[in-house]
Amino acid sequence: MTSQPDVVVIGAGAAGLMCALTAGYAGRRVLLIDHANKAGKKILMSGGGRCNFTNMATGPGNFFSGNPHFCISALKRYRPEHFVELVERHGVEYVEKAPGQLFCADSAKDIVRLLLTECEWAGVEVSLKTRVDSIERRGEGMRLETSLGRIDTGAVVIATGGLSIPSMGATGFGYDIARQFGLAVTDTRAALVPFTLTSQWKERAAALSGVSCEVAVKCRDGAYREPMLFTHRGLSGPAMLQISSYWQAGDELEIDLLAGKNAFEALAQARRETPKRRLSTWLGERFPKRFAQALSEWYGEDAALAELSNARLEDWQARLNHWSIKPAGTEGWRTAEVTMGGVDTRGVSSKDFAVNGLPQLRFIGEVLDVTGELGGYNFQWAWASGVACGQSL
Ligand code: FDA
Repeated sequence: MTSQPDVVVIGAGAAGLMCALTAGYAGRRVLLIDHANKAGKKILMSGGGRCNFTNMATGPGNFFSGNPHFCISALKRYRPEHFVELVERHGVEYVEKAPGQLFCADSAKDIVRLLLTECEWAGVEVSLKTRVDSIERRGEGMRLETSLGRIDTGAVVIATGGLSIPSMGATGFGYDIARQFGLAVTDTRAALVPFTLTSQWKERAAALSGVSCEVAVKCRDGAYREPMLFTHRGLSGPAMLQISSYWQAGDELEIDLLAGKNAFEALAQARRETPKRRLSTWLGERFPKRFAQALSEWYGEDAALAELSNARLEDWQARLNHWSIKPAGTEGWRTAEVTMGGVDTRGVSSKDFAVNGLPQLRFIGEVLDVTGELGGYNFQWAWASGVACGQSL
């Protein structure tokens, strides 16, 4: 082990790997520590194993934070094109699955391999299965007690991420260190997470498990138009994951199952043009077959369109355009993609990510109170904050 590294980065995830390699190329002796047995475990499981590694349209408006301006500087300096350039330099093939959302064409392993290769080229020493027992300030530097022994270093970067998926190595370590050094930690909650339902709705969702359709969903100030997926415990899919960042216990979700198309007008037109058509046929043209059948069963209606009065069309408009549902809760940390909240950025510099008044301690990535929407924004934040910090060490 490097006996006295210039920098110790704790957490070999997206932000920590990026920071370590950047500082290594800047000539720093870097030790990158992780308690897990593999680097970048969340990268490996991200994007369904294909890692949605950036979003070309990333901007500050894609992030939630108690201090919304904090992310601007780093995002401006390290943009999605910079990461794409790195990906291309390593010959990693990628695809744009949805506008702006870039995924590996083959496997997320390509991204971890790329980052570890860059770390190697930059001379970073990576130490996995390594425990950090304590961190103390020591004059202008820091002292760590670890399972490798005592380490004195010029700077410590905390890149230990958020609380989601504890089985992948997530811990509250970063928050504890922040509090130890007098930083505030804002309330944390699971975000980009599926909803659970109870009783009748849980049974209905379970029967439709695997069925997906495009919806428009609203909750509080959030509104998204994306696919929704029924699961055996509730509702998921991009629309539900996105809106979970706005949802608070007790809130209702308002779901427009026709994603903006007025059900009354569409049904009235169909009634005029094809009066003999059955309602179930009309539903079957708009929704997956199982869902269309379920809708007519739930509401006990399968008349010919000609038999439907305006009042009944209004009922269908309410059911289809304003489907209100109160989730019982979310699937929680076990499956959440990210943590909302974290280390209060008001105590941290947006330029170099140093703690105010303590430049030898830095926080980057998801451990901070900066949380992206679904779509590659969270990795872009990890890369950008890692680079900004790494360049300044
Ligand atoms: P990250 O969690 O990646 O790394 C933290 C590291 O610190 C881990 O390696 C952990 O083992 C280590 N650590 C924790 N405690 C420690 C301790 N006490 N001592 C030592 N080491 C410790 N985002 C996106 O943009 N596109 C996507 O496709 C996806 N998909 C996705 C799917 C799933 C299932 C999840 C859970 C998450 C995503 N995300 C995503 C979110 C993205 O993975 C996440 O925002 C970044 O990985 C955050 O990067 P960090 O480096 O900050 O933390």
